[in-house]
Amino acid sequence: MSVIDEIKSKLDIVDLVSDTVTLRKSGKNYTGFCPFHSNTKTPSFVVFPDTQTWRCFGACADGGDIFSFFIKREGYDFKQALETLAQQAGVQLQAPSPEKEKQDKQRKKLLELNAAAATYFHRLLTTSPAAEKTRTYLAQRQLTAETIAAFQLGYALDEWEALKSHFIERGYSNEDLLAVGLIVERDDGSPGYDRFRNRLIIPIRDVRGQVIGFGARALAVDQVPKYLNSPQTLLFDKSATLYGLDLAKKQIRQVDRVVIVEGYMDVIQAHQRGAQNVVAQMGTALTEQQLRILKRTTGNFVLALDADTAGGAATLRGLNIAREALDRETVPVPTARGLIRYEGRLDADIRIAALPVGKDPDDILKEGLDVWQKIIADAVPIIDFYFQAVTAGLDLNTAKDKSIAVRELIPVLRDIGNKVEQEHYVQKLARLIHVDERTLIAELKSGQKSHPIRRRKQPVSPVLPEAKEDAAIP
Ligand code: UTP
Ligand code: MN
Repeated sequence: MSVIDEIKSKLDIVDLVSDTVTLRKSGKNYTGFCPFHSNTKTPSFVVFPDTQTWRCFGACADGGDIFSFFIKREGYDFKQALETLAQQAGVQLQAPSPEKEKQDKQRKKLLELNAAAATYFHRLLTTSPAAEKTRTYLAQRQLTAETIAAFQLGYALDEWEALKSHFIERGYSNEDLLAVGLIVERDDGSPGYDRFRNRLIIPIRDVRGQVIGFGARALAVDQVPKYLNSPQTLLFDKSATLYGLDLAKKQIRQVDRVVIVEGYMDVIQAHQRGAQNVVAQMGTALTEQQLRILKRTTGNFVLALDADTAGGAATLRGLNIAREALDRETVPVPTARGLIRYEGRLDADIRIAALPVGKDPDDILKEGLDVWQKIIADAVPIIDFYFQAVTAGLDLNTAKDKSIAVRELIPVLRDIGNKVEQEHYVQKLARLIHVDERTLIAELKSGQKSHPIRRRKQPVSPVLPEAKEDAAIP
């Protein structure tokens, strides 16, 4: 028997689904409202105990076994789902090699340390007299006690070794503290002092809710950088992390859409105001890996980018290429027999919502959830947005500007894998500049295959989000 079969034989799909869906017995089977699409008036979701499978006969028209259900519900990848369900079933996955066992133990210890540090910072924020100003600051930013608790915000004391001595006393070593980046390394490689001092602490959690790193906001005017983040560690890889995903995944699944913003504080404000399908990229350009993680839960992405970032041609072009890659991707799906089958994924729909100049989501959400929702609903497909960004400053009646538009847009149109979609945009461009479609098609063909994501000179505002790491306080 394969491990997959063994896990299936020990767990009941009815139990697992019942954790989150109210099921009613109907003959041999169970029915309920589908947890994967919203606004359902009919209980279109059926669980079949005999075959240990599920199916939605409504909008999703999707189905599968205990694994696919769990992956969809939790947004885990197959390996994470396998590990979690194996543990629930009490099935040993495989006698781990001594090397692997050691690694797992180390990981576990570091996760515990991070969790303890988050608790430590949070307690300081909520109880220490030293955090009085920070509490006032958060109140000014209109964050409630519930929000502060849900995101486990914290405070790092304005001392050199407060955290270090706290955890050394509790049996952790300098090496452990270095390994999670809570203390800094001196030039000679020896363990130094606390990385985060006099900062608002924002624990960063993975999709499972485990603390893998920290973001830390400056509180004093002369403090740089504005945000200091954990370095890359065994636990923390920012290109594979989305801030807030652990709390957002439920609503992302329900509304079948994720909104990606730039800032931690934007996510926190959004959740407080009822937009809980919001996550943040990690101060870098959005990576394909991040999109892939989100794609486990939804294929509909809206990027709410600051006005200055949104015009960045490289940002948009990079995104479009990422989208194409995702569309081609296949994923392994375990079948009822425990075999692995490969399935193509749904297409990714990436839209851009441009925020009003000078405002970030935090500001807009404070104006009202409806204002925010309108902006998100008005988001346009990435290519249309690109058209807008490129043509914004051009006078399309002049020959010179027409040729600029063609030069900038043709490479993007060339990236589009779907021929129908490509033709749609060729027509759009032809109409826009009053040039014959055939001329554009000839252009399109002439430079075929000469376009890896090269970084060109930016025709429109070149501000990319990755520039932010060292930004000073505004
Ligand atoms: P913002 O400056 O827009 O941050 O940077 P914010 O979250 O809106 O913060 P407030 O509202 O000014 O307090 C967007 C994101 O870029 C990253 C962080 O992830 C931040 O949330 N960033 C920014 C850094 O990593 N380092 C920096 O120095 C600045
Ligand atoms: Mn902000």
